[in-house]
Amino acid sequence: MKLGDFEVANRIGLGTNRLTRTPEHVALIKAAVAAGVQMIDTAHSYAGGESEETIGEALSPVPDGCIVATKGGGSGSGNPNVLRAEIEQSLSRLGTDAIGLYYLHRVDPQVPLEESLGAIKEYRDRGQIRNVGISQVDIAQIERARQVVPIAAVQNHYNLSERKYEEVVDHCEREGIVFVPFFPLRGVAGTRLDEIARRHKATPQQIALAWLLRRSPAMLPIPGTLSVEHLRENVAAAKIELADSEFETLR
Ligand SMILES: NC(=O)c1ccc[n+]([C@@H]2O[C@H](COP(=O)([O-])OP(=O)(O)OC[C@H]3O[C@@H](n4cnc5c(N)ncnc54)[C@H](OP(=O)(O)O)[C@@H]3O)[C@@H](O)[C@H]2O)c1
Repeated sequence: MKLGDFEVANRIGLGTNRLTRTPEHVALIKAAVAAGVQMIDTAHSYAGGESEETIGEALSPVPDGCIVATKGGGSGSGNPNVLRAEIEQSLSRLGTDAIGLYYLHRVDPQVPLEESLGAIKEYRDRGQIRNVGISQVDIAQIERARQVVPIAAVQNHYNLSERKYEEVVDHCEREGIVFVPFFPLRGVAGTRLDEIARRHKATPQQIALAWLLRRSPAMLPIPGTLSVEHLRENVAAAKIELADSEFETLR
């Protein structure tokens, strides 16, 4: 798939909202890249900044073919000055001159999204942000955002048991925008899932990820884990091919 100016072959990424600055977590990020993960997802707010710092320590410079995505404006403020300060801090913590993908973490109800994205666009125009995304939005908000700056990715809450954004998934697929479902494993359970997992000699979490990948070619899940074993299982889920009947049963 294309994510703005990146080509992503491995559609399973890594979520890092619990990452703290320890040697184990630095090693986890390196192991993720070694396992073929191309999308590492963080945010200015995660673990008080330690998630970004850990990724910066592990991957500076970011290896070719790998994207580190971060977000700002999640702390309740889409004020352009707050966003500019957060972008500067993210650049510094990540130890990079250019952020691969930068999301507006939340649309601030007090600030028109055009103003928030305008601040992000300044950094894109200067080459300090390569691609722009937006999180937890509907189709109308995506289209408003695209009037300001090209939108390469949309990150919304979506998984087998949370399906509010079906139309957003389809819209992204039609428009060539990557859809990143956050909480891809949350609330994933059930006897039908267990049965299908047994049939594929896989775990229910792997089946949940395989289902997401099958749901749309625009889908790029970012399961969060602190375990190298789980990380490798998640990457391996991309090889599972669900039968049509299995896909429909879980749908
Ligand atoms: N845009 C937004 O507003 C927003 C909001 C929330 C989250 N996010 C992003 O989405 C990412 C994913 O969300 P999340 O991490 O909260 O939820 P998640 O990916 O749905 O689930 C994470 C949980 O699943 C476990 N897990 C992961 N892989 C597993 C496997 N193969 N087998 C069994 N258990 C497994 C993890 O524990 P272990 O550590 O033990 O593996 C953890 O408890 C976050 O890291 C963050 O980057 C974005």
